[in-house]
Amino acid sequence: MEPISSDLLVIGGGIAGLLCAIKASHFGTVTVLTKAASDEANTAYAQGGIASVWSVDDSFESHVSDTLRAGDGLCSRMAVETIVRDGPDAVRELITLGTRFSRVDAGGDDEYDLGREGGHSHRRVLHAQDLTGREIMRALGEAAADCPNLRVLENHVAVNLLTERRRDGSRACWGAYALDKGTMAVRKVVARATLLATGGAGKVYLYTTNPDIASGDGVAMAYRAGAPIANMEFFQFHPTCLYHPAAKSFLISEALRGEGAILRLPDGTAFMKRYHQDAELAPRDVVARAIDSEMKRLGLDCVYLDISHRPAAYVRERFPNIYKRCLSYAYDLTTGPIPVVPAAHYMCGGVVTDLCGRTAIGRLYAAGETAMTGLHGANRLASNSLLEAAVMGRRSFTAMRQDLGHDITRPPDFPEWDPGSAARTEQRVLITHSWEEIRRLMWNYVGIVRSDRRLERAFRRIQLLQQEIHGYYWDHLLDSDLIELRNLVTVAELVVRCAMARKESRGLHYTIDHPEHDDDRWLRESVVRRDDVQPAPAAPA
Ligand code: FAD
Ligand code: SIN
Repeated sequence: MEPISSDLLVIGGGIAGLLCAIKASHFGTVTVLTKAASDEANTAYAQGGIASVWSVDDSFESHVSDTLRAGDGLCSRMAVETIVRDGPDAVRELITLGTRFSRVDAGGDDEYDLGREGGHSHRRVLHAQDLTGREIMRALGEAAADCPNLRVLENHVAVNLLTERRRDGSRACWGAYALDKGTMAVRKVVARATLLATGGAGKVYLYTTNPDIASGDGVAMAYRAGAPIANMEFFQFHPTCLYHPAAKSFLISEALRGEGAILRLPDGTAFMKRYHQDAELAPRDVVARAIDSEMKRLGLDCVYLDISHRPAAYVRERFPNIYKRCLSYAYDLTTGPIPVVPAAHYMCGGVVTDLCGRTAIGRLYAAGETAMTGLHGANRLASNSLLEAAVMGRRSFTAMRQDLGHDITRPPDFPEWDPGSAARTEQRVLITHSWEEIRRLMWNYVGIVRSDRRLERAFRRIQLLQQEIHGYYWDHLLDSDLIELRNLVTVAELVVRCAMARKESRGLHYTIDHPEHDDDRWLRESVVRRDDVQPAPAAPA
């Protein structure tokens, strides 16, 4: 089969991938792969907005210091300063490309409405009502469609990177193998540069705000190719998702707390002041742990979020999507509290990159949620991920131009995908069962509160699952479920390995066996590579 060939391959069509692709298409040919429909990405689900210094009362220093505080000692100051300072330009580019952020009429001057969220000392979150991500995807999707050199291949799942081992022992990436879900053929996609922009991995947990595409494929592919992965123990749980069996962890934006919503127990008592001086606006890890602790203390299924003291017309206008969705489950935000629980939300760790998106593998770049730049440290500040993805999508493009602008090296001749003696998958139950087992054990043993014993138990089970899935993978013809399952178990293993290594509590990683910070030993990133896999610890007798 003819390979697909272009100057740049972008794996992922969310905010990071599309911003890079649109810019690059002015200089060469670009192929964007999306594993499902092109508008199905974490980006499309973003509610609260994008954080950026925008008002004259705000300052870069303040945004930097809020980000460092949330990151609990582990952010790279250089990354924070660079990304925060690039924020306004990235937002302006989104606006130029057609994004319509909400405005307020400020005495004749039409200005952008700036939202407030936990951990931010200023109003600095640009948003499009409570559907910010949909609006960004609309604008970027339309802009991409107008770029003649850019083609988006929907329903193409990248399977593995095409990597070459160079004479000096280093590696270079020349694209990827990708499964066309329409024909079920695995195609070779060759490119002079590749950007991983595959988003997060919320599906590794049983309850998550993330859509089904979020299975950590970029991290798993980069790891298999030998790139260092870091900080995977810092998985962020969003404190407030609607508690309803049919709601699939529907997110109730932090922006509600920014506009005064209060967390309450079933008897109406507000409890956040007992946990943090900033109460509902404390950093997200603090709020999620407080809710978890109250639920465990009182044996509750959920706590409640109450914004009914704000004028009903305001709530309906500011949060139209959340209002309507809650109403569809018979909860009226304007008249009383709604039930909420935490759910897995954001992967702070990922493929290690520099501040130009470069990974340790030549010609391979990563941006957005799949990358680890050092911005978030041990805990991400609200609305800093769209910011990071937008800034790093743009910066990756600049780096590629610098690195490869005059490059004339020809790609090696990679073989066609060889299915070998693989057979058609007959026992779907094996896939669904393993999938369910991984997600449940991650939720139960590697959740908001951890312990050495639970992590060891998770690790042993994951090693077993790894072996089973590995055998199954090579014996069966590929489909997207199998690709995702293999990636998901790898991501689960990386989360657990990083969590086991960190013998302290910091940011999003809280373990009852090491409840304090240990700055002497642990003020550093946890980095994992394919080549330093540890054997599973023996089961206790
Ligand atoms: P994504 O937008 O997730 O895009 C990933 C792309 O990769 C998709 O196109 C997908 O199809 C593709 N892909 C994945 N694997 C493969 C593969 N193997 N082959 C081919 N394609 C692949 N952040 C904020 O800053 N502010 C918010 O208000 C906010 N709200 C959020 C609300 C929700 C409910 C969720 C889930 C997240 C929210 N976030 C928010 C986080 C933020 O949306 C994401 O971190 C960000 O959008 C990630 O962008 P991205 O470009 O890295 O990836
Ligand atoms: C939200 O709207 O609460 C999500 C914001 C974020 O994840 O940054």
